[in-house]
Amino acid sequence: MIVALMGYMGSGKSTIGKNLATVLNYNFLDLDDYISGQENSSINDLFKNKGEIYFRKKEAYYLNDVLTSKDDIVLALGGGTPCYGNNITLLKQSEKVKLFYLKMSIPQLTERLFKEKDSRPLISHLKTKEELTEFIGKHLFERTQYYNQSPNIILSDNKSIKELLEEIV
Ligand code: S3P
Repeated sequence: MIVALMGYMGSGKSTIGKNLATVLNYNFLDLDDYISGQENSSINDLFKNKGEIYFRKKEAYYLNDVLTSKDDIVLALGGGTPCYGNNITLLKQSEKVKLFYLKMSIPQLTERLFKEKDSRPLISHLKTKEELTEFIGKHLFERTQYYNQSPNIILSDNKSIKELLEEIV
C-alpha cells in the first residue's frame, strides 16, 4: 500500500509523512528527495538550471516510478505534483494508493513559509509577508481543483502532529 500525502508547500507533508511511516511501520519517501537523488541536484538547482517544465516532466516520471513499487510506503508528494500532467488521475486510479490532502489556511501557510521561503524556488523572490499571502492565495485558487479531488481531506490548521496522525490512521 502507498499512503500519498498531498498539499501546498509548508502544509506538513514531510513531517507528518515521516511520523506516519513510523506509526504504520512503512518506509517513508519524499518525492522531492527522490528526484534530487536521481537527478543528482537540489530542487532549487533543477529549477534554476533546467527550468520548471523540465522539473515537472521528471516529477511525473519519478512519480510513475515510485507507484510501481511493491513496498509499503508513505509518500510525501511535492506541492505541485497533483496539479500537472495526469498525475492526479494516476494517483486516484491506482488501487494501492490511499490519498490524503493536508489542507491548511492561507494565513497559516504564510506564517510557516515566510521563514523558509529562500529555500523554495517558487517563492524565494517574494519580499514581504503580504506578497507571500497574495501569491499563495492565487496559487491555491488554481490548485484547489486538484487538491480537492483527494478522497480524504484533513483540515490541518492548529492541530498537533499526534492529532493529525490519529485522524489519518
Ligand atoms: C513545489 C513544491 C515543492 C517542490 C518544488 C515545487 C510546488 O515541494 O516540489 O519546489 O510546485 O508547490 P514541497 O511542497 O515539498 O515543498
